[in-house]
Amino acid sequence: MPASTPDAELKARHRKMWASGDYPSMVETFLLPLGPILVEACGIGPGMRVLDVAAGTGNASIPAARIGADVTASDLTPELLEAGRRRAEAEGAALRWAEADAENLPFEDESFDVVMSSIGAMFAPHHQDVADELVRVCRPGGTIGLISWTPEGMIGALFRTMGPFAPPPPPGAQPPPLWGSEGHLAELFGARVEFGTLEREVLEITAFEHPHEYGAHFRDKYGPTIVAQANARKDGREDELLEALDAFCDEWNVGAPDDAHFDQEYLLAVGTRV
Ligand SMILES: C[S@@+](CC[C@H](N)C(=O)[O-])C[C@H]1O[C@@H](n2cnc3c(N)ncnc32)[C@H](O)[C@@H]1O
Repeated sequence: MPASTPDAELKARHRKMWASGDYPSMVETFLLPLGPILVEACGIGPGMRVLDVAAGTGNASIPAARIGADVTASDLTPELLEAGRRRAEAEGAALRWAEADAENLPFEDESFDVVMSSIGAMFAPHHQDVADELVRVCRPGGTIGLISWTPEGMIGALFRTMGPFAPPPPPGAQPPPLWGSEGHLAELFGARVEFGTLEREVLEITAFEHPHEYGAHFRDKYGPTIVAQANARKDGREDELLEALDAFCDEWNVGAPDDAHFDQEYLLAVGTRV
């Protein structure tokens, strides 16, 4: 069993946060490439038993199922699983959808050939519990594959920008982008996973014309930004947050002032469960 006691109130708050806004449309707007990248890096093939942790709308699960793998998409937030189920039906992909907390997975020991998470498991607050669960449900010789935003990259900086405005993190929580640090993964997994792939890549985002549209997209659709803005409003600091977000967008835009281009760095980590 994981070390920390599951906290029903905290989980309910996180579920509500991820169900707020419109995460499915963020996937469609600029996150879709990540799923197939992870599936390919994990070497997923027909018949493999695959668990996608914090799968959201199935960004990685659906391409894995379309290859013919036996896929379970698991996530804390039923609303996102439901959106994923609809997308899978439309694409003719067959897979299972399971409500599950990454810190306490409801699956048997060693029951999957591949355990993967695309910018998902990193958002559960207790990192060691999550890592222990990923190892537990993966068979020896199986594959653990992760895509995580890096601390030094754009989403790491976004979380630092929002942090002072957000509600205080729960006790024992660690910042999500730490999962994008090679050293942090080594601490979490130790000798239990041999990472053959540890590569920093960028997701290029060109979906927005003015750089501030990127910030507006997050304010409207991204649960963590919506929660930070609501908290800032309560503290009378909403304008300060909005200015900080606009400045953040200008700083990270590597395109033209009216033709934005952002590079979001992530760590692709794929290893063998010893
Ligand atoms: C940024 S989204 C990534 C979703 C998907 N993997 C993708 O690539 O689009 C983060 C996901 O983590 C899920 N999540 C957050 N905390 C979780 C937890 N403790 N256990 C399982 N899922 C969690 C959210 O519900 C959300 O679907």
